Amino acid sequence: MSQRKPFIAGNWKMNLTLRESVDLVRAIAEQTRGLESVEVLVAPPYTSLPRVKEAIGKDGILLAAQNMHWEEGGAYTGEVAPPMLVEAGCTHVILGHSERRSLFGETDDMIDRKAESAYKHGLTPIICIGETLEEREQDRTAEVIEGQLRGSLKHFRDKKDLPKTTLLAYEPVWAIGTGRTATPEQAQEVHRQIRQWLTAQFESATANAVRILYGGSVKPDNVKELMAMPDVDGALVGGASLKASSFVPIVRFES
Ligand code: PGA
Repeated sequence: MSQRKPFIAGNWKMNLTLRESVDLVRAIAEQTRGLESVEVLVAPPYTSLPRVKEAIGKDGILLAAQNMHWEEGGAYTGEVAPPMLVEAGCTHVILGHSERRSLFGETDDMIDRKAESAYKHGLTPIICIGETLEEREQDRTAEVIEGQLRGSLKHFRDKKDLPKTTLLAYEPVWAIGTGRTATPEQAQEVHRQIRQWLTAQFESATANAVRILYGGSVKPDNVKELMAMPDVDGALVGGASLKASSFVPIVRFES
């Protein structure tokens, strides 16, 4: 593990009712109170955001949306704008999750626009990238990851400036929701490649500060070995984030 502060995020996806969301965040807050060594974030469905924020109160849990549009508002039926997320209490937004890319046709270009817009509105993006099983088997992982980084961070590259608070999430598609996690070595190899790419594009202080999360079947029993890798700075957790009994042990991986 590095000097970067560990960041554990729960992506609730399209799960949990309003009531269940509030109960879950309360349980997480209660069971992680006073824990200062790790940053904790939850990403509930849009409709739960304000109530979850209310339930968090003064506890330090951070709140993210799972997606957003890049425009400030307008005729975009079904979409949610960045200022609405800020008003709901979000500090972060997940962008380019593989389910958004594969099921809803999101492209690197859209993610790039969203990332720029997020910062413009005071939201920190968690930008997701990752290869499919087919791409890995064809030995194309490095090329796919680099292409996604180049495309999703285009305007930052053009400006040669990436805010140090940016979070990247490496989520191999073949490991998401499959119970098949990447080995710590497989994760480290890609995380190292991502950091090298960042070093080539931006100042080294930025490349060293940006936190790279791993996502894909993270569980209480594999988080510790993943977090032991030098370039793995946190986790983006799906299935295991839906219960305090599995999420809290992940957050408390150090103990
Ligand atoms: P999983 O999902 O932990 O259920 O594999 C991770 C994610 O999609 O962020």
